[in-house]
Amino acid sequence: MPKWCDATIVDKKIWTEGLFTISITANDVNEFEPGQFLQLGVEDGDALINRPYSVASPTGDVLEFFIVLVEDGQLTPRLWKLEVGDTLKVSQRAAGSFTLKKSPAAECLWLVSTGTGLAPYIAMLRTAEPWEKYQKIIVVHGVRFAADLGYTDELKEFEKKYPERFTLIQALTRESTDGLLKGRIPALLESGELESVSGCQLRDDNSAVLLCGNPAMLDDMEEKLGTRGLKRHRKKSPGQIVLERYW
Ligand SMILES: Cc1cc2nc3c(=O)[nH]c(=O)nc-3n(C[C@H](O)[C@H](O)[C@H](O)COP(=O)(O)OP(=O)(O)OC[C@H]3O[C@@H](n4cnc5c(N)ncnc54)[C@H](O)[C@@H]3O)c2cc1C
Ligand SMILES: NC(=O)c1ccc[n+]([C@@H]2O[C@H](COP(=O)([O-])OP(=O)(O)OC[C@H]3O[C@@H](n4cnc5c(N)ncnc54)[C@H](OP(=O)(O)O)[C@@H]3O)[C@@H](O)[C@H]2O)c1
Repeated sequence: MPKWCDATIVDKKIWTEGLFTISITANDVNEFEPGQFLQLGVEDGDALINRPYSVASPTGDVLEFFIVLVEDGQLTPRLWKLEVGDTLKVSQRAAGSFTLKKSPAAECLWLVSTGTGLAPYIAMLRTAEPWEKYQKIIVVHGVRFAADLGYTDELKEFEKKYPERFTLIQALTRESTDGLLKGRIPALLESGELESVSGCQLRDDNSAVLLCGNPAMLDDMEEKLGTRGLKRHRKKSPGQIVLERYW
């Protein structure tokens, strides 16, 4: 069992009904790498209901979490009801190897996500690390509806700051909006749209690809990237793909 710290909600941002970011403070959380996750827990009588959440901010005094309400879920309906000033538990130590330190060096870094799988990339992009390690960074964010596109303003700021080095690709699956791609991410890879919009080819000799969120997206992307010669990056067998499976 993790060691638990007391945490307090200091901010809550609702992106759209059921999709939210909570910011917490907790004194004793150890330092962690961007991309790692902490456990959040809410007490229910004598029990503590807890789940892992990627931290959407780098290590610091305030920790951010980008969360979606799973209506019939055990924990998220409880998290969704919390307001500023409410308390919860957070694990003292972060875990996980979905970090840039554990990712291969390459010319292009592809940060591919569905839904709240964007969270670890926000933490990474707020640090110097990706900008020092990669020439070109492409964020691909796939969601059902435009309202589900959290963190757009912040991502657009990176586009302004690094016009030659950063591309944001947002894709919707259940509606069409001018300026955004339509379709699931693996289909947009196959159609060539991800590469044409970013101006980067997705090849085994120039790309590192991080995949986070819906496990079906991870599986489909790994299969499609595999046909291009990209494979899972492992310590003993270097490759290009690093995964974080949310369920
Ligand atoms: C390493 C790791 C990091 C994670 N980080 C985040 C995060 O930053 N934000 C976040 O919202 N969730 C994240 N999750 C998922 C989270 O741990 C919980 O599973 C989720 O919040 C549902 O909890 P619950 O108790 O409400 O639902 P449960 O009763 O546990 O139901 C789980 C079901 O909910 C669905 N589900 C779970 N997570 C998601 C999701 N993110 N988007 C869409 N459907 C989902 C799946 O169908 C899954 O089978 C992460 C999971 C892992 C393993
Ligand atoms: N605003 C919100 O996001 C919101 C609010 C309240 C509650 N919820 C609930 O939260 C849960 C999760 O919703 P979510 O939309 O965040 O997560 P999700 O179901 O994982 O969907 C996120 C995106 O991933 C796509 N996807 C699914 N399978 C894929 C695959 N194999 N390859 C590529 N992309 C794939 C989806 O496309 P498809 O559309 O084609 O499936 C969608 O665009 C649901 O129970 C939902 O009802 C969501």
